Amino acid sequence: MNAKFDTVLIVDYGSQYTQLIARRVRESQVYCEIYPYNKISKKLINKIKPSAFILSGGPKSVLDKSSPKLNSNILNYKKPIMAICYGMQLITNNFNGIVMKSKYREYGHTIINIKKKSLVFNGIKKLRFKVWMSHGDNIKKIPNNFKITSISNNNIISSIENNTKKIYCLQFHPEVYHTDFGNKIINNFINKICNIKNKFKIKNFIDDKIVELKRNIGESRIICGLSGGVDSTVTAFLLNRAVSKKLFCIFVDHGFLRKEESQEVESIFKKKFGNNFIRIDASNIFLKKLKNISNPEIKRKIIGKTFIEVFEKTAKKISNVKYLGQGTLYPDVIESIPFFGGPTAKIKSHHNVGGLPKKMQLKVIEPLRTLFKDEVREVGKSLKIDKNLLLRHPFPGPGLAIRIPGEINKNKILILQNADHLFINYLKQKKLYNKIWQAFSVLLPVKSVGVMGDERTYNYTLVIRAVKSVDGMTADFFMFTEQQLKDISSLIINNVKGINRVLYDFTSKPPGTIEWE
Ligand code: XMP
Repeated sequence: MNAKFDTVLIVDYGSQYTQLIARRVRESQVYCEIYPYNKISKKLINKIKPSAFILSGGPKSVLDKSSPKLNSNILNYKKPIMAICYGMQLITNNFNGIVMKSKYREYGHTIINIKKKSLVFNGIKKLRFKVWMSHGDNIKKIPNNFKITSISNNNIISSIENNTKKIYCLQFHPEVYHTDFGNKIINNFINKICNIKNKFKIKNFIDDKIVELKRNIGESRIICGLSGGVDSTVTAFLLNRAVSKKLFCIFVDHGFLRKEESQEVESIFKKKFGNNFIRIDASNIFLKKLKNISNPEIKRKIIGKTFIEVFEKTAKKISNVKYLGQGTLYPDVIESIPFFGGPTAKIKSHHNVGGLPKKMQLKVIEPLRTLFKDEVREVGKSLKIDKNLLLRHPFPGPGLAIRIPGEINKNKILILQNADHLFINYLKQKKLYNKIWQAFSVLLPVKSVGVMGDERTYNYTLVIRAVKSVDGMTADFFMFTEQQLKDISSLIINNVKGINRVLYDFTSKPPGTIEWE
């Protein structure tokens, strides 16, 4: 909770787009928090003191008896409300309008036609534009004292409002990228309707956090798992600003890092933290534990468990430690809130090197838990962290171990490190690195016959992968040119002993995942 910033409270009714609403609000430089509808109480509202509410969409129908209800405390608080999709139907129901089941679902692109002037459409010159719809029910009769401001081409009421009560309802999703002027609509709500004074500024966020961390940590010590990735690096720099020598950073080198990465991380952080940076070379321990293991899930579990063992052992040697700093971000927080208790399929056991055990009896401190990745990069920039570190592609906690399908050994790690290094350097040289969200190589346990010079070869196969994505949840493969593919293939085959064939992975997510294991 950030008392210094005006807050928009986003009430989540289970929409897959709720996170996007938060993103959009933050893009308007306004602080916001998401709470599930069943956690909304008078006490919570009085604590947050929101300047406005946004009610999200949701998969249920307000016509079902068991569907989520509108908490009356929201209306009683008398602040502006934007109600999206399911939210709009809740408002309609609540004020005695009529919601009905439609004959067909309106899903995807739809054109809406503006019928009346509205503050939410302020500055939009077009009277017809494209929006994203996703609903089964719709409004048959609007509540008294509301007016219709737009109607879709399918003759469905697409927005209504009550200016006196400051309630603005949209049947479509302004938060989805496919909606024209979606940003503008949310921006209008925030800037033209809600009386927001204290906007969210990274500089203020950092100043406030430092004061808060100082107060909370006091004279105790705090440890932090450092991987050299963006989240743990920014967390460590922020903690260092707050408590300086009371912070100890532990970097566990599991031996599955990229070429020269371990030395790079050590030199950067030794310079910054001196003896309060501790590097543990645990590569032999990890390799031994993974001997003869090829099942991806078992690999992940062994790595996660070993990491914790090594970390705990090291942490115990530091006295007076009461806190554990972690680089948890807001999407991790939101994703861990289960909706409707429904089971979601587990695809992979993610191991985050920042994700250490709560059972260590240390109090967990997560200074970035309200921020999105791009905001974390902003914090990092303000803390003067090297740009190359901040703009690095994501790297999974278990590292190269999950990029070597099958059994792992030192030789394979070395081959993969060398090949990947060449691939990534090529992307940097050609200025492709920052156009790609994530790129890496995978060493397959497949050998094939080739010919080099006049010699027969029988070597490993390397896969290169490069994807475009916003958040890693979905991804499209990157389209290299024919020349680039030729360059990369010969660069690797000519320079890496042990590889005689290079493949390009042109699979999107879904149906693939980004990593191979
Ligand atoms: P997948 O393979 O699930 O990956 O499509 C999505 C994103 O998550 C990264 N990833 C991980 N990150 N610990 C991490 O910190 C993990 O265990 C892990 N597994 C995958 C992956 O690199 C991609 O960016």
